[in-house]
Amino acid sequence: MQSCEISADSTDDPLSSGLRRKRQPRIVVIGAGLAGLSAAKALLESGFTDVTVLEATDRIGGRVQSVRLGHATFELGATWIHGSHGNPVYHLAEDNGLLEETTDSERSVGRISLYSKNGVAYHLTNSGQRIPKDVVEEFSDLYNEVYNLTQEFFQRGKPVNAESQNSVGVFTRDVVRKRVKADPDDTEAVKRLKLAMIQQYLKVESCESSSHSMDEVSLSEFGEWTEIPGAHHVIPCGFIKIVEILARSIPKSVIQLRKPVKCIHWNQSVSKEIERVADHNSDLPEENKGSNVFVECEDCEFIPADHVIVTVSLGVLKKRHESLFHPRLPEEKVMAIEKLGINTTDKIFLEFEEPFWSSECNSIQFVWEDEAESESLTYPEELWYKKICSFDVLYPPERYGHVLSGWICGEEALIMEKCDDETVAETCTEMLRKFTGNPNIPKPRRILRSSWGSNPHFRGSYSYTQVGSSGADVEKLAKPLPYAESSKSPPMQVMFSGEATHRKYYSTTHGAVLSGQREAARLIEMYQDLLQCPT
Ligand SMILES: Cc1cc2nc3c(=O)[nH]c(=O)nc-3n(C[C@H](O)[C@H](O)[C@H](O)COP(=O)(O)OP(=O)(O)OC[C@H]3O[C@@H](n4cnc5c(N)ncnc54)[C@H](O)[C@@H]3O)c2cc1C
Ligand SMILES: *[C@@H]1O[C@H](CO)[C@@H](O)[C@H](O)[C@H]1NC(C)=O
Ligand SMILES: *[C@@H]1O[C@H](CO)[C@@H](O)[C@H](O)[C@H]1NC(C)=O
Ligand SMILES: *[C@@H]1O[C@H](CO)[C@@H](O)[C@H](O)[C@H]1NC(C)=O
Repeated sequence: MQSCEISADSTDDPLSSGLRRKRQPRIVVIGAGLAGLSAAKALLESGFTDVTVLEATDRIGGRVQSVRLGHATFELGATWIHGSHGNPVYHLAEDNGLLEETTDSERSVGRISLYSKNGVAYHLTNSGQRIPKDVVEEFSDLYNEVYNLTQEFFQRGKPVNAESQNSVGVFTRDVVRKRVKADPDDTEAVKRLKLAMIQQYLKVESCESSSHSMDEVSLSEFGEWTEIPGAHHVIPCGFIKIVEILARSIPKSVIQLRKPVKCIHWNQSVSKEIERVADHNSDLPEENKGSNVFVECEDCEFIPADHVIVTVSLGVLKKRHESLFHPRLPEEKVMAIEKLGINTTDKIFLEFEEPFWSSECNSIQFVWEDEAESESLTYPEELWYKKICSFDVLYPPERYGHVLSGWICGEEALIMEKCDDETVAETCTEMLRKFTGNPNIPKPRRILRSSWGSNPHFRGSYSYTQVGSSGADVEKLAKPLPYAESSKSPPMQVMFSGEATHRKYYSTTHGAVLSGQREAARLIEMYQDLLQCPT
């Protein structure tokens, strides 16, 4: 990595130094995902004029990424608007006419079954059998009952007992197993199927949580994530439309693409350094000398700022916080970053010439009978595909063609990311042949997949509350620097926004939007006098 010289001559400031106190604060937003764009939009609309958004990649949207193939749009990232009234993403979509009519069948039924409308899920076993519908229904009811129990620990402050290890996975497996084994009405064969189904449901749940497995997800905190009531909507023309609508109100010159940030020098560390090394006639504009923060980009540009809003993912923070901040982050912030969880959920789209599934089938769920007694869901590298929990049928075929959308999470998703397209397509097809008992399924004609885990700008899909962490850590992550205790320093030099900083709505698009608006609101409040009396 090259090291950058501190030079500020690239920062042309139209304001003369005499205006220093009266000038508009300079705000730099890092990341042009939903959080960054929402923050920038809110700041500009409130009258701030010196706002810059720096984005590492060559596109806006971040973890919203819609890919157009033929007539159809496929979502590599966010897919559903979860809930309606009170969800800012829903309102944006609704106000801009992006939603189709909804029907009751679009409502989610229970926790698992996801949001695929039309038709029924086919639970297939590795011996090519379909699990009877009544067995699936009984099991779903049982699973949802136990899911409800997991919510009570947070919602009713129920104490967690030691055997559950404060883990959703351990608790759920344990309680569901006991109930399955104790059911006097089931034959041994049915019991065995249900025991195998537990693991499949936990894989689906883990894909929903973007954890390696549910064993890492905190039981005592699980119920803090809050669902906004209402249907789950997709945006037929692509989720990216939401991003484009937000960006519409932001002048083009505000957003700089392909501008990765290398280090955020806060606490006036650069200004102090300049004062130390440079003679007082240095060519640094007077204006920049007192800057609280300098944002150092990979291309060696130093951008002075009064406030920086960091929206990079928790995965990027985990990997890079030591080098991304100078001086280093306070211990409390580092602890929160390390304790909270983020892992990978990836999608695998397979397009087939002809459907090999029946028209009522909305998804294929893979139940491995040999996993009935397994304690953990971690596989040797060559068996990564056993972590694929299901393929959804994209509906309607007139829009998407004959496309299956598969889900995989955790370490095995990272292994999948390393394989080439050919290997993944072949492996998935082999799996579909095995579970459907149809050895003649031809290879898909196209494959498209995500790689959120290995992408250096994301390092994971979305956050969760890991065993050992809590909502308090989310608050600590969100808290602006410097902390109020060191009140002599200028306030709110480095601010934090993004999906992982929302205590109730982490892991969602609306959480990201609200977190961006939240940080903008802090600055709007701080500068209300300046904003109300424009000169
Ligand atoms: C597979 C998948 C499925 C999902 N499904 C749903 C769903 O159905 N519904 C839902 O509501 N949510 C869903 N989500 C979650 C949702 O996409 C995210 O919560 C949200 O988009 C996060 O927005 P953000 O602004 O917080 O972060 P990001 O979108 O990650 O934005 C941060 C930006 O920072 C940039 N960046 C990183 N490092 C640097 C750097 N050094 N310098 C400059 N820029 C940098 C990144 O490139 C990125 O553009 C899903 C996510 C994934 C991955
Ligand atoms: C779970 O709880 C929800 C809300 O409290 C309730 O509507 C639902 O019927 C419960 N489901 C089961 C299977 O107990
Ligand atoms: C910030 O700067 C002040 C004054 O130079 C110093 O006392 C303080 O320790 C610094 N804070 C951090 C987090 O480095
Ligand atoms: C996910 O979890 C696995 C297993 O614990 C780990 O190896 C990996 O680094 C984690 N991170 C990401 C980004 O997937």
